[in-house]
Amino acid sequence: MTITGSQMRCAPHDPDNLLDRMSRESTLNAHYEHLIERERQLLAKHLGITSGEVLSIGAGWHPGRHLFPAPAFRITAVDSDPERVATVERLQRADEVRVGYAGTLELPAASFDVVLYRLVLHHIAYQGPLAPCFAEAARLMKPGGAMVAIEPGLWHPVGLGLALANRTGLATALHGTPDDIPLSPRRLGALARAAGLEPELHTVTYTWRRLPSGLQRALAPLDRVGSRPRAARLGHTLMLIARRRG
Ligand SMILES: C[S@@+](CC[C@H](N)C(=O)[O-])C[C@H]1O[C@@H](n2cnc3c(N)ncnc32)[C@H](O)[C@@H]1O
Repeated sequence: MTITGSQMRCAPHDPDNLLDRMSRESTLNAHYEHLIERERQLLAKHLGITSGEVLSIGAGWHPGRHLFPAPAFRITAVDSDPERVATVERLQRADEVRVGYAGTLELPAASFDVVLYRLVLHHIAYQGPLAPCFAEAARLMKPGGAMVAIEPGLWHPVGLGLALANRTGLATALHGTPDDIPLSPRRLGALARAAGLEPELHTVTYTWRRLPSGLQRALAPLDRVGSRPRAARLGHTLMLIARRRG
């Protein structure tokens, strides 16, 4: 089943949000479709895991079936919001669901091939330290497994702007929430290494969903250099693949 950008987007278009008012819904959807296609391409090329058990933490309404299709992958979806967990269960978007908080999950060690944090760690960074999430991922992964995190990057101009908006208290007025904390690529690598994992960084995209669609189309080819080590750090959306040695 093909999932479109409009079906997948975590937050719907919100007319009370200043930046949403300035953005066309069709542009947001086109960006989201580009994003998920890039995620698929990067995982197909770099993950090296083609089947197994996936733990999606902060699964929201979309635990990552677009990246880890059935029947090759079995997904366990965890979220702190019981309503989202119930929706995922009702729509059968995961094989197993549970309500839980990242960093405190009582699941057996070494039981997952992939631990996925998709657009989650940058919210948890607002709640507290990220180290418990990395330690938990390392504990829950089988040898040879990988943690995959897809998160907004701090070193992209939009990430820097968002960090400034957070510091000056303007974030909520601007885009509706104070809890989007863009993450530094250096911090992501250091957290992975501290948990005993081997990090590898990629840029998913340099484009930003708020840019006019023509500009997004013009910038999209840049994404092809997003796996070069220096270029990888500058992305708007980053993908960290952090492996547990086999
Ligand atoms: C932006 S949504 C991303 C959802 C999904 N991963 C996706 O790709 O569409 C972030 C999700 O993280 C969940 N979340 C936030 N903090 C969490 C925590 N500490 N533990 C577990 N889930 C959390 C929220 O309830 C929300 O569903």
